[in-house]
Amino acid sequence: MPAIICSTLHKTYRHGFWRLQRKKALVDLSLSIATGEVFGIIGPNGAGKSTALKILMGLVRPTSGCAEIMGLASSNPACHRHIGYLPENPSLYQKLSITDHLVFVGKLARMENSAIRTRIAELLHLVDLEQSARTPIHRFSKGMVQRAALAYQPVEE
Ligand SMILES: Nc1ncnc2c1ncn2[C@@H]1O[C@H](COP(=O)(O)OP(=O)(O)O)[C@@H](O)[C@H]1O
Ligand SMILES: [Mg+2]
Repeated sequence: MPAIICSTLHKTYRHGFWRLQRKKALVDLSLSIATGEVFGIIGPNGAGKSTALKILMGLVRPTSGCAEIMGLASSNPACHRHIGYLPENPSLYQKLSITDHLVFVGKLARMENSAIRTRIAELLHLVDLEQSARTPIHRFSKGMVQRAALAYQPVEE
């Protein structure tokens, strides 16, 4: 089963004061991405890349066609378990450290304290932020923020 499938996706945005104007953002996008495959989408500004990703994230509904992640419709919140999404400008809480963020999501996921501690150690090692575990995010460089946000992706393995 492919990890990601897009079948004849179309998206026309309606905008303007009465939503009478239409903008075709995506026309007939079909693709299939296998598990473990690394896939990049490149194209000029306005080509529809962000629209396609927003549909896969369930943030935008396609006008027609469908998108699936691990066999689930991308509009189904259950598929979020399989998604790690790192936006260009991740919005972490500026006054909190990466450790604070990870404790927060660990508790939301109802993990045991000891499991949270172990997982945080693994994640900080993975993104090489062990030395900055307690530094507030506002002191991080852009690259450090992106690494912190990568560790913060609540993806099930
Ligand atoms: N919310 C929106 N309302 C109206 N038009 C939009 C909206 N979002 C994107 N568009 C338009 O859809 C087209 C594709 O945009 P986008 O998916 O952001 O392209 P890309 O990420 O490839 O630069 C562009 O012409 C853009 O202006
Ligand atoms: Mg874009």
